[in-house]
Parts: sequence; C-alpha cells; structure tokens
Amino acid sequence: MRLRAPGRFSGRSGRRGGVARAFPLVALLAVVGLVLAGCGEASPYSQITPRTEKASDIQWLYELIFWLAALVFVGVQAFIIYTVLRWRRRNEDRPEQIHGNRRLELAWTIIPAVVLLAIFIPTAQVIFDHAAAEEEADFVVDVYAKQWWWEFHYPDIPGVNEKPVITANEVRIPQGADVVFNLRSNNVYHAFYVPQLSGKNDVVPGHNNKMQFVADTPGEYFGECTEYCGIAHAWMRFKVIVEPEENFNAWVAAYRQPPPVADARPETADVVEAPASFGTCLACHNISGTNAVAAQDGYQANVLSQGAAPNLTLLGCRDHIGAGVLENNRDNLIQWLKNTKEVKSGTYMPNYYQPAEQGGLGAINDQQVEELADYLLSLKPAGGCPPEQPVGGTADVSLSDAP
Ligand code: CUA
Repeated sequence: MRLRAPGRFSGRSGRRGGVARAFPLVALLAVVGLVLAGCGEASPYSQITPRTEKASDIQWLYELIFWLAALVFVGVQAFIIYTVLRWRRRNEDRPEQIHGNRRLELAWTIIPAVVLLAIFIPTAQVIFDHAAAEEEADFVVDVYAKQWWWEFHYPDIPGVNEKPVITANEVRIPQGADVVFNLRSNNVYHAFYVPQLSGKNDVVPGHNNKMQFVADTPGEYFGECTEYCGIAHAWMRFKVIVEPEENFNAWVAAYRQPPPVADARPETADVVEAPASFGTCLACHNISGTNAVAAQDGYQANVLSQGAAPNLTLLGCRDHIGAGVLENNRDNLIQWLKNTKEVKSGTYMPNYYQPAEQGGLGAINDQQVEELADYLLSLKPAGGCPPEQPVGGTADVSLSDAP
C-alpha cells in the first residue's frame, strides 16, 4: 500500500514542497530563539533566580528532574532511531509475530522505577528538611488572603490601638530573619507564591498552612496568587520587601506615629483629621496612628470579603494600589477612586464617586476625590519612605512591567 502520492514532498515538486520541508526547521529555530531570549532577562516572577537557600533547594530539584528527563528523552529517541533503522522493512515478508518479552518488560518497569526513586528521595528530603524549619522560625507573619488582595499582620510586633502592625499587599521583613508565614483565608482557596524566595503553598479556608524561609539578600520580590479565586484573581499580586533590620525598625516606628503634616489640609495642618469625605472610607479601611481604626481585619472581617479592605497606614510609600493593578501616584489614585470597578473588575470597593443614576453612590465629588488622593499620598513617615531595594535582589533583573 502506498501511503503518499509519489513526488508530493520530493524536491521535484517545486516551491511549495521546499517551504513545507523547511517549516519544522523554522519552527524549531523560533522555539530555540524564544527560549534563549527568555534566558537573557530574568523575570522577577522567575523560579530560576533563587534568592534563598530554600528556593535554591527547590531549583536544584528542578534541575535534577530536567536532566533526568533530558537523559530519558535522548535515550528513548536514540533507541527509536536505532530500532527504525535496524529493523526497517526490507522486503514484503510479514515480520515474525511475537507476544511478550520478559526481558524488555522488566527493563521498562525497572528503569522508570529507578528514575522515579532518584527524583522521589531528594524531593522528600527537601520537603521534610524545610517542614522542620517551619517549627523553628521565630519571625511570624500572619497572612490573610482576601478577594482580591493580601493582608499581613505581625502578631509579635505591637502596633497601636491594641492591634499588631498590619499592612497590605507589600510586606516588609528584616534581612536574615527566620520568617514563617501563617497562610489563612476566611473566604476561598488562594495560593501564596514568591518564586525567588520559596515554593508555592495553598491558602486554605479553615486551615493554617505555613511557609518558612530566611532571606539574606535585600530586595523586592514579586509574588502573586496562583490559585484561581474569582474574577480578580489575576490582580492579586504582592511584594515581599527584604531590607536591612534598621530600615525595617524605622518603618515599624513610623507605623506607630500619626502621619505628619499632609498637603491635603494645609489650612489646618491636621492630617489625623482626614478630609471629611474620608468618612466614606472608614467603615472598611484603617489608618494606624489616627482614629480611623474601626474597620475589622483578619478573620474578623466579613467572611465574603465585602467588608474587608486594605489597611492604609503609610500608603504613600507603597508602589502600587489595587494589589498591583495601578502604580501608586496621584493620577492613578484619582482614577481608582472614580472608576474602581472599571480599573479592577470584581473589586468589592463601592463607587462612591459616580452619581446614583449611573450606578454609583454619589457620595463624593471631583474635588473630594482629589483631596482624598492627596491625603492618601501624604501617609508617609516624617523622615520619608524607606530606601528602595533592588528588584529581584540584584540590579540585573529587568522589572519593566511587573508590579
Ligand atoms: Cu487569590 Cu487567586
């Protein structure tokens, strides 16, 4: 039986045949090009530039698996090519039909079992080593995953108003601290993932998962939610900022102070008293050091997330708002306050700006939105924001469009 028409893909078939033959080669070159381009610029979301011992251990496992898989691939391909050439049909005789071959079956059972053991044993070792380290870590951060942002509590660092220090979406830790994150949710499943610092861990309602690591390299490390958790799952980004201990301590000290004089109220020079329109924000947002401390947080905040909102203390020092959706600046804050739901679909923050006939609550006007943006940007330490740390822990990581 002929499987293809004679000459159809032969060199004699002209131009079209040449293109068809070249296609696999072009595709291969394109793939190689893309892979190499990816190597040139390390993404801050990349696993392949680990910055902690734990992330390095995980990276080592990936490399082990990669090279074992490469070995299997090359071995299987070589065997296929050998088989095809060695036993290709030479005449029209039907080959001898056989059933079963004990030696072959043993071989293809034992070899994969050995490969799996070579992966399983070091993997289990890394898992158990790091699980033991979780119990010894002494710098505790409680993480509450919300729809769709992150709340971070430092339960051992007293803040003010009988609450610990609480922040949102950007979590600071001292360089070299043995940190354990308690991962909690009172709504749906999320997953906590900072590729350069650690593996990925689910955040499960009603269960406390832990993640431990020691970050020795100061830097800003990007993380995101990696478990689908609803409409704004893609905008549930966060940052872990590792900084020298004295910078961290200065940030904590500033956290406990009332905000300094704000540009927003030059007539009174009183920023503890926010613009009157800030009253619309008080039900959900807290600002430490002021009397905006009525909103609930952690587990207490509304189970369905609607009543929960980020703590705004020192918001003027955060790089992004809306869990990574916009850079933090005056124009973007105004845009956010005016078109919250357009900027971030699904967010539970109500539209107080829009007139009621357009579906908003109509409680604040253009001038009040600007006042609020100025007030929020003024929420900084008196001595200025903490010094920035290199993204990805080194200056050679490209950051362009990630939060
Ligand atoms: Cu939270 Cu996806």
